[in-house]
Order: sequence, then structure tokens, then C-alpha cells
Amino acid sequence: MTILVTGGTGKVGRRLVRRLRQAGVGVRIASPHPEGADTIAFDWSVAATWDAAINGVGAAYLIPPPTGGDASSIMIDFIERAVARGVKRFVLQSASLLPAGGPAAGQVHQWLLDNAEAWAVMRPSWFMQNFSEGRYLDSIRGANEIYSAAGDGRVPFIDADDIAACACAALTAAAAPNADFVLTGPQAITYDDVAASLSRAIGRTIVHRRISAEELAARYVARGMPPGAAQVLAGMDTMIAMGVEDRTTDAVEALTGHAPTSFDAFGKANAALWM
Ligand SMILES: NC(=O)c1ccc[n+]([C@@H]2O[C@H](COP(=O)([O-])OP(=O)(O)OC[C@H]3O[C@@H](n4cnc5c(N)ncnc54)[C@H](OP(=O)(O)O)[C@@H]3O)[C@@H](O)[C@H]2O)c1
Repeated sequence: MTILVTGGTGKVGRRLVRRLRQAGVGVRIASPHPEGADTIAFDWSVAATWDAAINGVGAAYLIPPPTGGDASSIMIDFIERAVARGVKRFVLQSASLLPAGGPAAGQVHQWLLDNAEAWAVMRPSWFMQNFSEGRYLDSIRGANEIYSAAGDGRVPFIDADDIAACACAALTAAAAPNADFVLTGPQAITYDDVAASLSRAIGRTIVHRRISAEELAARYVARGMPPGAAQVLAGMDTMIAMGVEDRTTDAVEALTGHAPTSFDAFGKANAALWM
């Protein structure tokens, strides 16, 4: 069986591709910027690219575009076409704060719950890789700082490789889970804790700059995010400050049989990136 990995060049997708290959599963990588023989050109917003992604695959990992906005109706149209072409199993990457029936990926989640025969939804908390591959990489390297509007709120940051391991299990298990999983790291920590952990790993002081949600949204816009989406994402920091992410689950261990990576271990493993 071949498995389609949308977003197969991103933080989770790349790691999922590696894990599926290690498990001996055929993989088709889909990206708007394809490179290499087994990567095809695919864009959620260009329906003409969909059939080449769907044809001949047995299961699909669905990563919504990260640029913000609500892609749910497009994704549901895609899944309906995939079902008609014989794709049997769907694993969606949503987010910890998005329940079934909620906005954006929450709508796709609800569709799977109501209609799919074999499915799972990964609902990860914030990724550790936001510090090593995402928006904080430059601020750590260039200004020795991370920034947030989360105040003293706690986040159970999760390693993208643990998300990939969970997705791999959900895609390849004999029976699909037909359930959603809130995926967290082993500890809920503050951005001050993150800065301290990175400081220890790197050997120089990294500070947590506390900014307002408005300033955070402006930074997202400066990085190319549409203003509406930037406000929604920055608003999530306000929710973190109120404690909504302050919890851990045992879902990673339940799906994979191993405990999730700690932030300290992630920092040590990636220290060279921030030098
Ligand atoms: N980062 C977090 O902390 C976090 C936490 C929870 C949930 N999430 C959710 O996870 C999703 C992915 O975020 P991420 O941080 O993992 O992003 P990422 O690492 O940048 O990966 C995004 C992937 O999507 C692809 N992509 C971008 N635009 C696309 C389009 N129009 N059509 C098809 N593919 C497209 C990218 O391809 P190219 O790079 O090749 O262009 C890339 O492979 C988002 O929906 C986000 O809300 C993220």
C-alpha cells in the first residue's frame, strides 16, 4: 500500500515520511514545492493537483496549510474525492485547541467522525520544532530571545518526531483508531522555562520577551501571515496565559509504546542549530 503524506516536506511530514519508509511502506510526498522523484506537486487550493496525489494510494495523512485561514471546505472536498477514488484511511493533523466541530480543522475532524470508515485525528500541542525550524530560530540565533504573549501560561510542547510516530502508528495499525488524540510532551512548561532550558543547552543566556497579543500578531504579519489568521494565532497565546494548555496526556505512549521526548532532551539534541 502507498500512503500519501500531504505537507510531506514540513516539520511533521518529513519525519512521518522517514518513519513510514523505515516500516517498509510506500510513500507519496505532496508539496507545493516538489523536489525529488517521489514528491509530487500538490496545492490544497488548486484542485487540478489533487488526482495525481490521490490515485492509487490506500491512506492519506492530511496536514492543513500552515498559512492561516480556514481550509476546511477545501479539505472536505478533497477527502470526498479521495473516498470516491478508493482511499480507505485518513489521518488528520489538527491541533490541541481544536475539538471536533470547532473552526478550521475542527470541521474536517467532524466530517471524518460523521462519514469516514477508517480515520484518526492527531491534535498536537505546540511543536518544540518552532524553536529549531520555525519562527524562533532566527530570534534565538540573532537576538538571544524568544517572544510570546503567553505570560506565565504553560504549554506541553511536543517533539514533531513524536507526532510523526503517532501518525505512523495510526496509519499502519491493522485497524484504524477511529478516534482523536490530544498529543503532548511529558511536561507543561512556561516560555521562561523554555528560555532557561535553551540557555542550558546552548551555553549562553536566552531570554523570554513578553509582548502583547497585538505585537505578536504584528510579528506574524511581518512573516507573511494574513492579518486575520495572525490575530487568531496570537489570541491563542492569550488563551495559553489563561491556562488552557496546562495539561499533559498519555496519548503518545498509548499510540507508540514510548514516552514523549522532554524539552531538555530536545534542546540538547539540537544545540548546534542555535550556535
Ligand atoms: N507548529 C505548531 O506548533 C503547531 C501546533 C499544532 C498544530 N499545528 C498545525 O500543523 C499544521 C502544519 O503546521 P507546521 O508548523 O507543521 O507547518 P510546516 O512545518 O511549515 O509544514 C507545512 C507543510 O504544508 C505544506 N504546504 C504549505 N502550503 C500548502 C498548500 N497551499 N497546499 C499544500 N501544502 C502546503 C508545506 O510545503 P512546502 O514547505 O514544501 O511549501 C509543508 O510541507 C498547521 O495547520 C498548524 O496549524 C502546528
